[in-house]
Amino acid sequence: MHAPYPALRLRRTRAAAWSRRLHAETVLTPADLIWPLFVAEGEGVEEPIASLPGVSRWSVDRIVDRGREARDLGIPCVALFPNTPRDLRTEDGREALNPDNLMCRAIRALKEAVPEIGVLTDVALDPYTSHGHDGLVDAAGYVVNDATAEVLVGQALNQANAGADIVAPSDMMDGRIGMIRDALEQAGHHNVQIMSYAAKYASAFYGPFRDAVGSRGLLKGDKKTYQMDYANSEEALREVGADLAEGADSVMVKPGLPYLDIVARVKAAFEVPVFAYQVSGEYAMIEAAVAAGAAERDPMVLETLMAFKRAGCSGVLTYHAPLVAKLLAR
Ligand code: PBG
Repeated sequence: MHAPYPALRLRRTRAAAWSRRLHAETVLTPADLIWPLFVAEGEGVEEPIASLPGVSRWSVDRIVDRGREARDLGIPCVALFPNTPRDLRTEDGREALNPDNLMCRAIRALKEAVPEIGVLTDVALDPYTSHGHDGLVDAAGYVVNDATAEVLVGQALNQANAGADIVAPSDMMDGRIGMIRDALEQAGHHNVQIMSYAAKYASAFYGPFRDAVGSRGLLKGDKKTYQMDYANSEEALREVGADLAEGADSVMVKPGLPYLDIVARVKAAFEVPVFAYQVSGEYAMIEAAVAAGAAERDPMVLETLMAFKRAGCSGVLTYHAPLVAKLLAR
């Protein structure tokens, strides 16, 4: 005879730690992490970034150390962002095409020293332009689409020639994925992947990143004519559909936590590898809460990353990657 009430005890499987582990629907491992790294000129250099406490820019030799650290922690991939010296930033961002620019030197050094990890590179002109925009601007300050896409093709090829494994266009120009795919194929880079920042929103969460790459003081206006309006989600599906049709291997949603509804919708609609970027402002919010005594870092960080996995992400770009990998190794 069943007791009449309660018929359902959902707490039963939660009662012991072994049982909670056994019933976990989602797993988080170091293999889910992509570690974003900022590159600086010089040698033996570590420059802490004030608005991203715990994150530094590293010179190329020290970036290689971070690559070894990633490998040893089981992190499969790092993402590179250069802090281009001010005097090399121009209206047209031409330093992006220089085969010996900071980015290319970092890619080559990493692929030589730690060939077993993946190197993902950002395709966009903002670390190279004197106005801080991701593309070329006309006299009215508008970021022009087609001319920018042409330059991005050159930038992506430059990165692939240096050894990049994944090129990740973060610029939100229309049509650039197909153009970059064609150029990569013609150059024989058949196995260089494209991870498209397909649904990238104009966001207030990018501030510390712009400090890190040195574009904050330079940026004129905002990026709302190319990055998406955060009121929209159907438009994200159209962006993803277009980028996949043009040849993207995987897509990204950005920022992360406030946009998990977009991750879930994209995953349900397309059944392709979806990544998310837990961006600089999200990292800074967690660190500020910890510094204020309002939260404990380790459990909060793990909870956020599991949430990305639960929403459908294949992996997450996060500045907390080394911390998370260490916590998971315990
Ligand atoms: C540049 C780019 C940005 C980020 C990644 N690539 C900034 C922007 O679009 O202004 C932000 C990442 C972060 O905030 O951590 N195209």
